[in-house]
Amino acid sequence: MKIGAALHYTPLDHAARWFGRILPKGLYARALIIIIAPVILLQSVVAYVFMERHYELVTRRLSSAVTADIAALIRIYESYPQDREASTLSRIASESLQLDMDILHNTDLPPPGPKPFFSILDETLSNELRRQIDRPYWLDTVGRSNFVEVRIKLDQNTVMRILARRSQAYASNSHIFLVWMGGSSFVLLGIAILFLRNQIRPILRLAEAAEALGKGREIEFRPRGAREVRQAGYAFLEMKRRIERNLEQRTTMLNGVSHDLRTILTRFKLSLALMQETPEIEDLKRDVDEMSRMLEGYLAFARGEGGDAGEQAGETDLRQLLAEVQADAERQGHAMKLDIVGDPIIIVRPDAFRRLLFNLVSNAARHGDRIAITADHETRWLVLHVDDDGPGIPVSMREEVFKPFVRLDEARNQDEGGSGLGLSIARDIARSHGGDISLGDSPLGGLRATVRLPA
Ligand SMILES: Nc1ncnc2c1ncn2[C@@H]1O[C@H](COP(=O)(O)OP(=O)(O)OP(=O)(O)O)[C@@H](O)[C@H]1O
Ligand SMILES: [Mg+2]
Repeated sequence: MKIGAALHYTPLDHAARWFGRILPKGLYARALIIIIAPVILLQSVVAYVFMERHYELVTRRLSSAVTADIAALIRIYESYPQDREASTLSRIASESLQLDMDILHNTDLPPPGPKPFFSILDETLSNELRRQIDRPYWLDTVGRSNFVEVRIKLDQNTVMRILARRSQAYASNSHIFLVWMGGSSFVLLGIAILFLRNQIRPILRLAEAAEALGKGREIEFRPRGAREVRQAGYAFLEMKRRIERNLEQRTTMLNGVSHDLRTILTRFKLSLALMQETPEIEDLKRDVDEMSRMLEGYLAFARGEGGDAGEQAGETDLRQLLAEVQADAERQGHAMKLDIVGDPIIIVRPDAFRRLLFNLVSNAARHGDRIAITADHETRWLVLHVDDDGPGIPVSMREEVFKPFVRLDEARNQDEGGSGLGLSIARDIARSHGGDISLGDSPLGGLRATVRLPA
């Protein structure tokens, strides 16, 4: 069913997925796009329509007017042949039509110049000259920046040359419109960005606070911003308080229970010590000892989740911590290799993290001879392997051993104490930091415990 459904993606689904992939992931960037994209689209449409319609129309009108003036000059020149040099005509042209005109004798049109690559002016003016005058002409719209030069062949060896100002034939300052449009939208975008930042910052704050809570860190957080965001902020604070209250309650209860049970166990021990040393009493003593050890173990485990919540995360020097662990292990006769790459400073709750390390290393020490620790803190994540050369744990049991009180040693007939809580506590600590622990095969031949923490 599911496979069939997966095959029936509509093109719309694909488009949405593709869009989701290329879109930036951050809220701020996305919000900006939501604002910027329509503005750009609108501007492009307006600019296109403007260029296409208005701009061309104005240029055509202007070109047409200039061409009409030139046509009139030619008519007048040809109707009054007595003024061969056309000095009066030239004066009138320059005074009334702002056209610089003269008559060249005994010349022909120059060879056509190179066409400009992209010019409405050249095109429209050419069209108008052909339409209104319909004589051989020569046109130069690029040679001089402010002028357009037109030459028209009147007869075999007479050419009329006209210089018109470029602005007469061409809507040249229309780009002002575009500049205004672009400029004003920049201002608008600037204002939008400013407002947006202020709206989005509280959301980012909330996300940070939630992330910190997940990692067991404490950061200051006060709800701000729009009503809904503030509402979410207060809800978050309420949730945080409830979690803290729960933990506190449990810790208090555990302390009470542990105190009560310890008192009774101590009384037991005292009574037993006063009795005669028979084998039964010896057995009883051992049981009471085991019971108090289990009790301590259980309490330590329960505190691992709750009791450490009071501890603050802070900068800890991994190198120093691991050196202590190494010295410890070597005192107990184990060879230990240390390897740290990346930043040795990590942000963790130091006592909890120390316990995590201790639990893993003591397991390695119990089951193997050689121990190796590799820590990699090159990214935001700390990846730490604890390797040993012991028997390892079969794949099927690697999740099982994380459960409280699960021990494989009993099956292996190694009666060396241990309550089966070490890995559970270690995993709780890793998870309360926002990370986890997994088990695998070690290059040394035994077990590899891998800790991943955002630190
Ligand atoms: N490095 C290891 N090599 C082989 N087996 C291991 C290793 N670490 C743990 N185990 C197995 O996993 C079981 C659970 O380990 P865990 O640390 O939770 O308890 P424990 O070591 O028995 O007791 P505790 O740590 O509370 O003293 C152990 O009993 C042991 O069988
Ligand atoms: Mg252990």
